[in-house]
Amino acid sequence: MKFIRIFSIAVMVSLLGLAVVSAQDAGEKKKPTPEEKAVKGRQELMHVLAAQRGVLRAMADGKRPTDAVAFANSANAIAALSKVIPEAFTLNAIVGKSTAKPDIWTNQADFSKKATELSDKAAKVATLAVTDIEGAKAMVKDIKECGGCHDAFRVEEEKK
Ligand code: HEC
Repeated sequence: MKFIRIFSIAVMVSLLGLAVVSAQDAGEKKKPTPEEKAVKGRQELMHVLAAQRGVLRAMADGKRPTDAVAFANSANAIAALSKVIPEAFTLNAIVGKSTAKPDIWTNQADFSKKATELSDKAAKVATLAVTDIEGAKAMVKDIKECGGCHDAFRVEEEKK
């Protein structure tokens, strides 16, 4: 089940990417450059991560009724998707509205490590949710891995 779910999420993410690209193709005569596509794709990935973290936060803060299965699903989604962050940043490109710092490509080992740390934390949260949902909710309030990477590898503006 879990793998099917993760797979569907991966398909959804790639479809999102395709939708963005084809919308641009239809709307403009000019095709997006590989750099523009890369920035768009990785920003979409970040938005999916943010949406899933939003589910966890809403339950942790009591703004949404707690559902341990949905909670674990979102944590598993973050665990899986954060593993593809380094892949999404393969192309050294900072164009348009990108807030990426050049350090990503001069310090790739640290960048990848930060993605792994987020994945590991989310996997722990997902596992804990099965036996101790309150403990898992408490852990979510303290997910520093998103901001930790942004502090190092993203320019100040709109910091999360
Ligand atoms: C390994 C590093 C790393 C981790 C971990 C990470 N991010 Fe990001 N994030 C980035 C970088 C770099 C950018 C800037 C990308 C760009 O604009 O080219 C970014 C951009 C964003 C954006 C803005 C996207 C846009 O359209 O401008 C959001 C929202 C975001 N991240 C949310 C999250 C959330 C939520 C998490 C944790 C669940 C997270 N990120 C974890 C590196 C990371």
